[in-house]
Amino acid sequence: MNPAEAPIALGADHGGEALKQQLAGMLKAAGYQVTDFGTHGTASVDYPDFAHPVCAAVESGAARFGVLVCGSGIGMCISANRHAGIRAAVLHHSTDARLTRAHNNANVACFGARLTGVELAEEALKVFLATEYEGGRHDRRLSKLSP
Ligand code: RB5
Repeated sequence: MNPAEAPIALGADHGGEALKQQLAGMLKAAGYQVTDFGTHGTASVDYPDFAHPVCAAVESGAARFGVLVCGSGIGMCISANRHAGIRAAVLHHSTDARLTRAHNNANVACFGARLTGVELAEEALKVFLATEYEGGRHDRRLSKLSP
């Protein structure tokens, strides 16, 4: 992805806020625009309240991709995939990141801050943003995702 394109939207709950900050810093240093939908602190909050605005921004085109962080990444991913225009995956390493972009055309990357360290998350996010969707046979599969 060219950093000059639309911003990356970020969101986290209290379990993911510190990793969100790290990822936002990495993105800014690489030249990306970042829209941070919170949370901004350590107070306990509910992850869907942050997943939905990020996903709405991606669905509307206000953001090119979304990044969601919670303790496990799972709650954020479940919330995100309730949106018809979102294909979200939990990323643990760069192989997840490459495959979900190339095969699933994922547009939201989820991380579990209690399970995935900063270096692995940063590398996975770089690969996620650098990998193009392959199309072809995967188009047919994506067309069947909604029941
Ligand atoms: C919050 O304690 C935790 O449930 C949340 O961050 C996430 O792991 C949910 O999937």
